[in-house]
Amino acid sequence: MAVNLLLGLQWGDEGKGKIVDVLTKDYNIIARFQGGPNAGHTLEFDGIKHVLHTIPSGIFHDKAINLVGNGVVIDPVIFKKELDNLDKFNLDYKSKLLISRKAHLILPTHRILDAASEASKGKAKIGSTLKGIGPTYMDKTGRNGIRIGDLELSDWKERYRALANKHEAMIDFYDSKIEYDLVELENEFFEAVKVLKTLTFIDSEEYLHQAQKEGKTILAEGAQGSLLDIDFGTYPFVTSSNTTAAGACTGLGIAPNKIKDVFGIFKAYTTRVGSGPFPTELFDEDGETMAQVGHEFGATTGRPRRCGWLDLVALKYAVHVNGVTKLMMMKGDVLSGFNTLKICTAYKYQGKTITHLPYNIEPENVTPIYTKMKGWSEDLTGMNDPSQLPKELNEYISFLEKELETPITIVSVGPDRTQTIHR
Ligand code: GDP
Ligand code: IMO
Ligand code: MG
Repeated sequence: MAVNLLLGLQWGDEGKGKIVDVLTKDYNIIARFQGGPNAGHTLEFDGIKHVLHTIPSGIFHDKAINLVGNGVVIDPVIFKKELDNLDKFNLDYKSKLLISRKAHLILPTHRILDAASEASKGKAKIGSTLKGIGPTYMDKTGRNGIRIGDLELSDWKERYRALANKHEAMIDFYDSKIEYDLVELENEFFEAVKVLKTLTFIDSEEYLHQAQKEGKTILAEGAQGSLLDIDFGTYPFVTSSNTTAAGACTGLGIAPNKIKDVFGIFKAYTTRVGSGPFPTELFDEDGETMAQVGHEFGATTGRPRRCGWLDLVALKYAVHVNGVTKLMMMKGDVLSGFNTLKICTAYKYQGKTITHLPYNIEPENVTPIYTKMKGWSEDLTGMNDPSQLPKELNEYISFLEKELETPITIVSVGPDRTQTIHR
C-alpha cells in the first residue's frame, strides 16, 4: 500500500494542520516526519481552534493512529502542554499516539543555546522560534543527542548531565548574558519526561513497515515549508531539518519507492515569519490587508507574519524539489476584494529575466516581474462547491495549474474543517 505525503511549499504556515485534519478520515496512520515544536499547526472545527506543535494533526479523529516519527525533535515540556490541552477535551489519546524511540529530545539547555546563538548574531539573526531546534539537530548530527529510546535505559540521567554540562560551557562561550534558572527548568523537564514515559514508545520504522504490508493507509505530515529546508531553503535563514519530500523517507524510514502522492500546500499569496529574503514582500496597504484579513500572526510565537504576492518562481522550485502530484491552495478567501492581483512569474536577476530560483534571492539581487490578474469581490467563506467559485478565481487557479503543470485539487476558503472545496 502506498504512502502519501503532505508538506508546505512556501515558508511554513500554509495550512498543513487544517488539511491533515480534513484528510485524516481516509487514513489509518498520520505520521509527523521532521521538525519539532517550532511548528504550530492550527485546526478548527465545531467553533474551537486547536494548535498542535508536535502531535500529528490527525489526533482529533477516533480511529487514526498518530505517530511522531524518528525525524522529529521532541521537547517533553511542550509535549506535556499539548497533552494537557487534549485532556481538556477528554480526548483518549493514549491508545492512538505513538512515539518513535529514535526521535531526539530537546533539553532545556538546547533552548538556552538557541537564544544565546541568536543573540550573538545581532542583526543577522535567523529569527528562530527559540524552541531549541537548531542545537538539538546539531547534537543529533554531531552524534551527541539523547533519544526517546534512551529514556528506557537506567543511565540516561547521567548522559543527560554530561550533555547539559557541556551545553553550559557552550552557553558561557556565547557570553550572551541570558539569565536562566537551570534547576527550575530541569525540574519542569523531568516532570514532563515522567508524563512522556506514560505513552507508548515504538520502533516506528518497523511499525510502519508492517502497516504497509497489511495494506494500511499512511499520510506523512510535514512541518515548516520547502523554502525553510536545510538544503533547499533560503540558507542560512532556514530551519535545521529536511522539510522536503526526502525528509519523509529519512524521518520515518519509508522507502522512496513506496511514496505515491505528494500533496503540496500553498497560500494564494505568500507569508514568512522570521528573517531572510522574500522577493515579493509588500510594505504597502495590500500587504497590510493580507495580514489583517488573513490574521497573519505566528501560531507558535504570535509574531506578525510578513506578507506578499504569490511567487511562482519559488513555488515552481518547490513543486520540482518535492515531486508534487497534487496542489492545495489555501486562504483564497483572503484575496476577495482586491481589484487586481499580482503573481510573480519571473525575476530580473543580474540584468537578465530568469524563471528559476537563483542561488541568491536577497532583495539587491532579484526584482520580481509580475503578471496582473483581475480579482474577485465575492465572499468565498460560505462556499462549498467548485461550481460556486467566481470566474476570476477560476482563472487564477487555471493560470497556476498551467504554470505549475500540476492540478489544484483543494481550494480552502476559511479556517474551519468545513470550509474546504474539493475539485
Ligand atoms: P500550518 O503551520 O501549515 O499548519 O499553518 P498555521 O496553522 O500555522 O497557519 C495557518 C492559519 O491559517 C491558521 O490560523 C489557520 O486556521 C488559517 N487557515 C487555514 N486555511 C485557511 C483558509 O483557507 N482561509 C483562512 N482565512 N484561514 C485559513
Ligand atoms: P509550521 O510547521 C513558519 C521559521 C522561523 C525562523 C526559521 C528558523 O507551523 O509551518 P527554528 O525555530 O526552526 O530555528 O526557526 O524558521 N519557522 C517557521 N516559520 N512556520 C513554521 O512551522 C516554522 N518553523 C520554523 O520563524 O525564520
Ligand atoms: Mg504554522
